[in-house]
Order: sequence, then structure tokens, then C-alpha cells
Amino acid sequence: MAIVSLGLQQLSMATVVWKIFLAIALFIVVHILSQLLLPRDRKRPPVVFSWIPVLGNAIEFGTNPIKFLQECQKKYGDVFTFYLVGKRVTVCLGPDGNQFVFNAKQNLASAAAAYNDMTKHVFGRDIVFDAPHSVFMEQKRFIKAGLNIETFRRHVPKIVDETNRFFDQYEKPTGIMDTYTAFGKLIIYTASATLLGREIRENLDDSVAQLYYDLDQGFQPMNFMFPNLPLPSYKRRDVAREKISEIYSKIIARRREENDTSNVDILQVLMDSTYKDGNDVPDHHIAGILTAALFGGQHTSATTSSWAVLELAARPDVVKAIREEQIEKLGSLKVELTYDNLEQLTFLEDVIRETLRLHPPIFQMMRKVVADKMVFEKYGLEIPKNDYLCAVPGVTQIDPACFHNPLKWDPFRWSKKTDPVHSMEQGDDANMDYGFGAVGISSRNPFLPFGAGRHRCIGERFGYLQLKAVVATFVRKFDFELVDSSVPKPDYTSMVVVPQSSKIRYTWRE
Ligand code: HEM
Repeated sequence: MAIVSLGLQQLSMATVVWKIFLAIALFIVVHILSQLLLPRDRKRPPVVFSWIPVLGNAIEFGTNPIKFLQECQKKYGDVFTFYLVGKRVTVCLGPDGNQFVFNAKQNLASAAAAYNDMTKHVFGRDIVFDAPHSVFMEQKRFIKAGLNIETFRRHVPKIVDETNRFFDQYEKPTGIMDTYTAFGKLIIYTASATLLGREIRENLDDSVAQLYYDLDQGFQPMNFMFPNLPLPSYKRRDVAREKISEIYSKIIARRREENDTSNVDILQVLMDSTYKDGNDVPDHHIAGILTAALFGGQHTSATTSSWAVLELAARPDVVKAIREEQIEKLGSLKVELTYDNLEQLTFLEDVIRETLRLHPPIFQMMRKVVADKMVFEKYGLEIPKNDYLCAVPGVTQIDPACFHNPLKWDPFRWSKKTDPVHSMEQGDDANMDYGFGAVGISSRNPFLPFGAGRHRCIGERFGYLQLKAVVATFVRKFDFELVDSSVPKPDYTSMVVVPQSSKIRYTWRE
């Protein structure tokens, strides 16, 4: 009897599985047929074909987004929509696409609506996208105020000193270095020493590094897709945020108690700032803004320095040119690197610029349509509410219409100025001020590794300076070559684009 009932149970289980299988198959067939047979709404951007409902094009996009977007561009033009795990993403390519997304009015498309579900858990409440837009612009202005020439003059020796001390631990006379890991660690030290404050740098032991690591885990693509999961990593992220906030609060309290205003860092700038409504910046805002500044520059600078060194490892002629520039303009490779002499090293700056062109750490930027619809007049297209808008400077930066031989890493292109980008018509929006000073570049520019418009990066000058100081010091210390036979391919699975492998063989120079 028991055997018969078990048999029946198995049979009904098999029927249920079979029915689920049939339902899924039917769902997929309807999904495919509806795309092939239903007429397209001409007012809306074309939708990229996908085989699997809900998942959409997540696999192609996740594996190699640049290739996927370029192929879509060929098929559908500069504006198209694709599905990414249930989200509709409307991509706007080309200089016009950049302008459309970056110059979108706040009441039409919002970065906060796109990102805040993820970022509020990392930065905390009332900061960045969790603050009203005008307050966030003030917070950007505070950071920018801490990044001026006077502070840069004090920061450069610290960055050079950190870089020397960091690499002096490397084995002599030769060895293998994983550049992404190395620069990832180094940039935490340089950013702490310059932006976060002396006390943070002095106490940057493994436990604090672990807190930053836990917090950083809140910035995985999974957190963007699913901001609230009951997972241990999500819990650790929240605990880390609280603990980091407590560390800052103690430093702030000590500086206030001792009336210590001697520090030149963003922490002090924030302590001395007031919002337009006359209120001081509360401690938990200071902690969140500092974390935002650290994370804004951390992976971006770490991956850019790693890519720069990997590209240089394959191009001894460029390494030679970097050294010759220092000898010619500064006198020798032994002259101290300061803010003022780094400013003279324009070829070194072109090396960084070219690295950001070919390997932009943030190659695409999202907004979410918050109005009933947005009209892209140039194409006569309407983009509906709740679509994610996506600008992709990573595609314009390797578009042959903008750069000759775009896949070649060629720092010399920037001084030659023969690429089409230099004669392309741009918008007149470089002087716009959204509340943190003029943005400084037109959103129609095809080269936008620091974004454009109201969300444009305020760390660009600091970023260049830090990268120049680190790379200039590195080429003084080491000769180096690739371990692999060619420059590695990009890995798109984390929030910034990192090299798939990043090893070099270094030899100490005399
Ligand atoms: C190589 C270095 C860097 C790169 C490539 C980079 C890239 C970017 C990009 C592409 C954006 C625009 C994001 C968007 O439109 O959604 C951005 C915004 C921003 N970055 Fe950077 N960044 C770098 C360094 C820094 C540094 C050093 C800081 C802080 C000191 C910083 C702080 C910020 C802030 C506060 C924003 C504003 C975000 C917004 O308004 O939504 N960045 N950055």
C-alpha cells in the first residue's frame, strides 16, 4: 500500500514538474514570437531581440558589454532598449546620446532613482543620492573645495612618499607583481593620507582595511540588481558602515576638543563647512561624504594605474619617453616630484588620458526616467517612465568616427591632435554650474571618462595628479614587462572594468 502511495506521489510530482516545464517553454515561445510578429511601436526605441524572457540580454551584456552594445548599434542605430533581468535599459550612444543623458533635467531623469537603492546602504542616509538633489550638489561643492591647488601642493609629496614606501617592500632585484592588487592597496594609503585624514592613515591597520572591504562589497553588480537580500555580505556591509562612521566621529570629536585645525584634508573642510541653510554638516554626513570621496577615487584610480602599467609594460618606447620628459623638463629622474613639476609633465598626462580613453573604469552611466516619458527629439523617440537611460562614453571613446585606429593604445595621439574628436562640433554647456562650479566639459564630447553634466566627477584633477605621481614614481623605480604575451583583456563583471590578469615582471633600477 505504502509503495503504491509513494508511486502515486512520484507520478504527481513528475506531472507537476512536467507542467512547470511546459509553462516555461510556452512562456519562452510566446516571448520569442511576440518579438518577431508584433509590430514595433515606432514612437519607442527598437527593442533588442532576446531568447529568454525577464533575463533578456543580461548574459551578453554582462560578458562583454562593449561588444554587445556595438553590435546592437550596428543593428538598431544609436538608440535602443534591451532587457536586463527585468529592467528596461534604453541605451543612447554617440555624442548626441551622451548629451541627451548627461544633460537630462532632474525632473525627467534621475541618477538617484537609478542608484540610491544601492548607494544608501554604503554611504548612509541623507548623503549623495539619498539627499535632495540640491543638497547633494552642495556636498559635491564641499569635496571640490577641499581639492584645490594649495591642497594639491601638500598632497603630492604625501602620495610620492606613500608610493615609495609601498614599493620599497618589494623583493630585490626582480620579481612578479600583481598590479591591480598592488595599486588597489596603494591607493587606499594615498587616499587616506591625503583626503580622509592623518588619523585614518595612521590607524589604517588590517581591521580598518577589512571594514572598507566589507563596505565595498555593497558595490557589486548584484547589489544594483537586488539591493536588499538577507545575505551575510549585506549584513557585514551595514555593520562596516556603522563602525566607519564611529571612527570618523571620534576623530571629529578629538579635533574639536583640542581645537586642532592644522589638518589639510577633506575631513577638515567638511568640519568647517555649512550648508546654505546655515546648518553645520552633521557627523554622519561627514562620514558618508568621506566614504563617497574614497570610493569615488579608489577603484577608478587603482584600475587606471594598473592598466597604465600593463600598457606601458608592452611599450618600452613610451616608458622611455616618460623618463626623457622628466629629464628634459625637470633636469633628472632624481628631482623631487611636486605639484608644480608634475603639472609640467604633459606627456605623462597624455599617458593617463589615453589609458582612460581605452580603459575607462566607468564606461557607462545610468539614469532612471522619472517623468511620464522623455522625448529624444533628434530621433523623434519617446522613452517611457521607469526605463533606465544609459550613456556609454566607453563606446564613443573607441568609435573610429572620433579616434583613428581606436583600439591602439597610443598616448602620442593627444599631442598630435589629428583625431577627428579634435575637430568635432561640441555643445556650449561646459560652463554650466549645477551647484559645484562649472562642469568644464561639454556633454557632447565623445571623451568623457569622468562623465558630464550635473553628475560629473569632482575628483578629476586629483585623479590625474595622483595617477601621474604614482606612475612617475613607478617608472623611476622599476623596469618591467608583461608576464603574459599581450595586454590582458578587460573583465566586466565588477562595477569598474579591471584587467583579467594583471601580472608584470619587474626589475629594480639602479
Ligand atoms: C581616475 C579617477 C576617476 C574616475 C575615472 C572617475 C570617474 C567618474 C565618473 C565617470 C563619474 C560620473 C558618474 C555618473 O555620471 O553617474 C564620477 C562622478 C563622481 N566622482 Fe569620480 N572618478 C575618479 C576619481 C574620483 C575621485 C578621486 C573622487 C573624490 C575625491 C571622485 C568623486 C566623484 C564624485 C563625488 C562624483 C559625483 C557623482 C554624482 O554626482 O552622481 N572621483 N566619477
